[in-house]
Amino acid sequence: MVFVPTRGDAPLRHGEGVPLLPEGAQAADLDASVYLEPERFERERTKVLNRSWQIVCRSSEIAESGDHVVWEGQGETIVVTRRRDGGVAGFHNVCMHRGARIVKESGKGARRFSCRWHNWTYDHEGNVIGVPDREDFCPAQLEGLASPAVECDEWGGWVWAVLAGPGVAPPLREWLGPELVADLGAYRMEDMLLIEKLTWELEVNWKAVVDGFNENYHAPALHKVPAQDAKDGRESTFAYLGPHGMMVVPYKGVLPKLKETRDHQSLAICHYTVFPTAVFNNNPSHVQLFRVVPLAVDRTRFETWELQYDPKGDTEYLDGVTKHWERLKVVVAEDVEIYGEVSAARRSSAYSKNRLNDHECKITHFHEVVQRMLDA
Ligand code: FES
Ligand SMILES: [Fe+2]
Repeated sequence: MVFVPTRGDAPLRHGEGVPLLPEGAQAADLDASVYLEPERFERERTKVLNRSWQIVCRSSEIAESGDHVVWEGQGETIVVTRRRDGGVAGFHNVCMHRGARIVKESGKGARRFSCRWHNWTYDHEGNVIGVPDREDFCPAQLEGLASPAVECDEWGGWVWAVLAGPGVAPPLREWLGPELVADLGAYRMEDMLLIEKLTWELEVNWKAVVDGFNENYHAPALHKVPAQDAKDGRESTFAYLGPHGMMVVPYKGVLPKLKETRDHQSLAICHYTVFPTAVFNNNPSHVQLFRVVPLAVDRTRFETWELQYDPKGDTEYLDGVTKHWERLKVVVAEDVEIYGEVSAARRSSAYSKNRLNDHECKITHFHEVVQRMLDA
């Protein structure tokens, strides 16, 4: 039997007694400068992105000791490895000698890492363990030397990291919060298989990409959703979960059943924005991660990761989920295409602000959290 997620004891997210919008949600304007200022992007890197838990890779990509992933984005390069004790460790991929990148590519089973330039070597935690001609250095230069640590942990079958290092952000589960852990956790992503990963490079600010996946207002126009489904879509619910957010979008034709059973996991697209750069699009039979990697103020890598359950020989499941994923790829391509239009108009003298409605409240909330971290 292929696993089917259900609500279980998790809180109700749809139906009688559950408001469509979070308390205080209202229409609001957002200044265009938040997407355009290079100086602001620099502050976002250090005060928001580097200080938040973000997804690096699937746990299965570094299954064995010494398996490692080189992750690069937001001007940073890091190495995340599987330690001998089974945990995960990470460090900045920068040689403490003269600043070259230590590890060029992801790989398997490394016992140590060596910088190609002068052969300084590092252990899995980034400690400097070998320096040729050590006696030519002053001992104080090398004592206890390590490349700065990245805090790492795992949840949901994902490896997460805080680039600013240990103790900067709350522990991962605390950062996610009990509501998100319960709701998103119901899908058991740790048991899912990575099927495909698509990547695009977009000429827009990273926040504009997150915004695009933080509302379903665009669905009738951009994705040409039929009128009845668009009407049902008006009964989507939106919620803030600490810095994160979620929305529950009823599946085609299931609204009466959803109202009756109130099992949002099995009858709706549940959509989780995990601040700051991850959006999970959860269908009952498969999950997409939309992962935004900021590169520069106006350049963003956008990734879509497709996860499916182990079909365990169930060809009906496999056929259904494969067909649905093929259709979804078309939908995601429509989302991606629109960033060309956004990019074309970004520098226009006529672009001064976004005018957001109350159903775009998750966008407003997201930008408020960014601003709060910048002001902290
Ligand atoms: S820069 Fe890495 S060993 Fe010299
Ligand atoms: Fe879309």
